[in-house]
Amino acid sequence: MDSPKQKFSSEKMTFKILGAGVVGLTTALELAARYPLARIQILATHLPGDRSINYTSPWAGANWLSVATDNGRQENWDRVTYKKFEELADGKGNESGVKRMPIWAFYDSEKEDAGILSQGTGKVWYEGMAGLRWLKEKEEMREGAKLGYEAKSFVVNVQVYLPWLQNEALKKGVEMLRTTVTDIRELTNDSDVKAVFNCTGLGSYSLKGVEDKLLYPTRGQVMLVENPKTPMERMYFRSPQRVNKDTTYVFPRNPGGGVILGGCRFDNEWDGEVDLEFAEDIKRRCCALAPELGKPEDLKVIQHAVGLRPSRKGGPRLERESMGKTMVIHNYGAGGAGYQASWGLAKDAVDLL
Ligand SMILES: Cc1cc2nc3c(=O)[nH]c(=O)nc-3n(C[C@H](O)[C@H](O)[C@H](O)COP(=O)(O)OP(=O)(O)OC[C@H]3O[C@@H](n4cnc5c(N)ncnc54)[C@H](O)[C@@H]3O)c2cc1C
Ligand SMILES: *[C@@H]1O[C@H](CO)[C@@H](O)[C@H](O)[C@H]1NC(C)=O
Ligand SMILES: *[C@@H]1O[C@H](CO)[C@@H](O)[C@H](O)[C@H]1NC(C)=O
Ligand SMILES: *[C@@H]1O[C@H](CO)[C@@H](O)[C@H](O)[C@H]1NC(C)=O
Ligand SMILES: *[C@@H]1O[C@H](CO)[C@@H](O)[C@H](O)[C@H]1NC(C)=O
Repeated sequence: MDSPKQKFSSEKMTFKILGAGVVGLTTALELAARYPLARIQILATHLPGDRSINYTSPWAGANWLSVATDNGRQENWDRVTYKKFEELADGKGNESGVKRMPIWAFYDSEKEDAGILSQGTGKVWYEGMAGLRWLKEKEEMREGAKLGYEAKSFVVNVQVYLPWLQNEALKKGVEMLRTTVTDIRELTNDSDVKAVFNCTGLGSYSLKGVEDKLLYPTRGQVMLVENPKTPMERMYFRSPQRVNKDTTYVFPRNPGGGVILGGCRFDNEWDGEVDLEFAEDIKRRCCALAPELGKPEDLKVIQHAVGLRPSRKGGPRLERESMGKTMVIHNYGAGGAGYQASWGLAKDAVDLL
């Protein structure tokens, strides 16, 4: 009971978290788990349920297929999250919206050029963890693809997961305030606040103070379609490389959530408008990839959408900085990996305390 760690955690402390996307909400849960007696406040312009081009999280697919190859902390964020998703899917799969589902991933490049091999090891780092199986049979491969594999993965129905994260936080006493913070000193000029967590995503690009111009949007366009008659048992992905502008993917939100079809990764595009001509291209690519979907003209589209991934040169910013009377812990710039890295990012952010 009286270990130093316990004593520290039982002090009455206040933490503020700026941002209520998947990164801010997960950081709040990690904090609440490790500092159960602390007062935790989330301040955000947008909360789960909102739809805005300035709020990325509701537009994600989302799935787990690591883009990390650094043989270091980025891989570790995804590893921590994979383990957490296992726990969520097996423990409370239906209420959290996280489900186990295999994925078939195809690349139009040779293995060395596909952007999937970890630096130093020359292997796909999650090969063992995700039970990678290289696809060899003709009926499993896709025409023209250079390689393909099946991996045990997870699909996250973000429409269920974001409110679930919010609700878990509320149950633990986390306060939520809808407010736009224009100047960081509004938060750091208070010695009663132990730390401010900066989880603003792309918002840090324009937030007054030290605007972070390393951030840039990676525009994605997707659509939600009704579940096809043939039940879908796996996700699909196809791309020249793991990270490439011409990316196609199919994520079924089983059993009743429809299917997300995408997409693209266009760097430095801020445009939030749906391109309907491009949507036809997405339909064609997805139907070729996933035969269960049927023909493009049979797809029943419920909604088209565009989202901006908060990318950052050099990767996410996860660091501590002393500012005014308190400490700021930055946790933004997750790019296209905000879901699959979320629990690892949150753990490291709270470790920085
Ligand atoms: C089409 C698409 C597909 C994707 N697919 C995947 C996928 O399959 N897997 C995956 O892991 N990731 C995926 N992503 C990426 C993922 O969605 C993002 O990495 C993630 O949502 C980023 O979350 P965030 O919490 O950092 O930012 P956001 O969700 O943008 O949240 C930012 C929060 O900060 C608040 N905020 C910002 N500025 C201020 C301010 N000044 N004052 C107050 N509040 C402020 C906002 O209101 C909001 O609450 C995808 C993204 C897109 C667009
Ligand atoms: C999004 O954020 C930018 C930068 O703060 C702002 O100029 C723009 O008006 C916002 N757009 C919407 C739709 O809120
Ligand atoms: C989850 O949902 C599936 C299908 O809707 C159902 O068969 C299963 O029993 C549910 N699991 C739990 C734990 O409720
Ligand atoms: C910080 O707070 C003090 C008093 O609490 C106030 O006088 C000062 O203007 C504040 N500074 C900023 C930058 O907000
Ligand atoms: C978040 O980080 C950005 C970029 O460094 C900075 O502009 C902004 O002031 C920070 N906000 C907070 C609350 O620390």
